[in-house]
Amino acid sequence: MKKLKMVTTVLLVSLSLILSACGTSKTGGDGGKKTLRVVTDAAYAPFEYQDKGEVVGFDIDFVKAVAKEAGYPVKVEHVGWDPVFIEIEGKTADIGVSSITITPKRIQTYDFTVPYFLSKNEILVPKGSPIKSAKDLEGKKIAVQNGTTGQEAVEKLFGENNDKLKKFDNNNLAILELKKGGVDAVVADNTVIETYVKNNPKDDFVFIEDDGTFEKEFYGLLLPKGSKLKAELDKAVNKLLDNGTYEKLYEKWFKIKPDIKILKE
Ligand code: ARG
Repeated sequence: MKKLKMVTTVLLVSLSLILSACGTSKTGGDGGKKTLRVVTDAAYAPFEYQDKGEVVGFDIDFVKAVAKEAGYPVKVEHVGWDPVFIEIEGKTADIGVSSITITPKRIQTYDFTVPYFLSKNEILVPKGSPIKSAKDLEGKKIAVQNGTTGQEAVEKLFGENNDKLKKFDNNNLAILELKKGGVDAVVADNTVIETYVKNNPKDDFVFIEDDGTFEKEFYGLLLPKGSKLKAELDKAVNKLLDNGTYEKLYEKWFKIKPDIKILKE
């Protein structure tokens, strides 16, 4: 009888320990705000990538700083590009961060925070390629990451029924295809292309800008439509833009000063 009582006590104590552990992981123990689940496609250096099994990058530092400013603990998880959108639409995650351009099509389904980064599409080609501008891509084999603005930009130029356009699940696979000679060019975000060229001199790739063709794009943090977090996160982003935190992060990753005015236009 005594033994049974002891077993029950042990069970009850462990149960309450487990429950309270669940409780803290939700509230994070800092003013009772729950831990935000942040999802990303960590194959887009220098914004989000994996280093020794850890998800790092400008976007990751940025989203952590924004959440901290708003008083939330975060847990960042690499899930892949399409899953980022699926999780945010299904509300199984709170924030998507992945160099995600705010587009008219996406805002029909999602909310975004205010913009935090200016970007543009750019072309990656082997040195000596005859491709010198976007129009030279005509008739050429092009690799893009599926479901990105890079894909949209190429389809806008040459139509949606383009059998020369090869779509990949992540941008590293698109670049790998260029390395293997399976395509003539990759179209993706300028900072990512330029970082790749700089970090991989042995590949002998060059980047091609075409400001007349590719439009300005702004990244935002992706949120479920109607997310109650939007107001708080917008406020936090603006605070970081104004108090020098954003500038510090930007300089850490890009070694130049950001144009903050253009983000606020
Ligand atoms: N900015 C582009 C877009 O929103 C590409 C982003 C790709 N991001 C990534 N983590 N793979 O479509």
